[in-house]
Amino acid sequence: MAAIEALVRPLLTWFARHARDLPWRRTTDPYAIWISEIMLQQTQVKTVIPYWERWMRRFPIVGSLAGANLDEVLKLWEGLGYYSRARNLHQAARVLAARPDRSFPATFAEVQALPGVGRYTAGAICSMAFNQPTPVLDGNAIRVLTRVFGIAQNPREKAANGRLWTLAESLVTQASRDAPPEARSCSNLNQALMELGATVCTPRQPQCRSCPWQRHCVARKTKRVSEFP
Ligand code: ADE
Repeated sequence: MAAIEALVRPLLTWFARHARDLPWRRTTDPYAIWISEIMLQQTQVKTVIPYWERWMRRFPIVGSLAGANLDEVLKLWEGLGYYSRARNLHQAARVLAARPDRSFPATFAEVQALPGVGRYTAGAICSMAFNQPTPVLDGNAIRVLTRVFGIAQNPREKAANGRLWTLAESLVTQASRDAPPEARSCSNLNQALMELGATVCTPRQPQCRSCPWQRHCVARKTKRVSEFP
């Protein structure tokens, strides 16, 4: 099995060179990152960009969202679908605005307690806004990790899913070791893992020759890429 320590540096180097320039990658504002992560659930990047930009102009801070009425929030969401996401954002903004110091919570447990925020989203916010070593596991990361580590079980099944979360956590924890906060290695590691799945380790015809993990990948070695969808 590929050693975690051998995987982190090539992935971070690859991401530094090949990361897409996405508007929410230019900020460390937890509110802005939260909005992008909720929009990106079930929706493609290119669809999300104009929605996120409009949203951030209309509701630049938590307080502006908390003060808006729900109809306006839903109107701005129109076309994205899964409207419970917008309702939860609005409700969570009201919870946040009622906090004594109005700051965005900076612990995983507090973030995950917000309406509509699960393990993935809390991990994304804490890593990308606060550079904490909290793992993320989305569909792209699942595909990358099952291939690299040759995990043949159904990744939606409990045991395999737990193993994948543990691997994702080991990677982001390793990234945090010996790295100064300004390197933002937790943020970069998590985004790189998902980016690799989105742009290189795609479901069909993965671009293995462009992959920073090609030498470590069990699926590639055993020519079983297509068996891990
Ligand atoms: N999927 C959701 N958020 C992402 C991010 N910041 N980078 C790459 N993929 C993502």
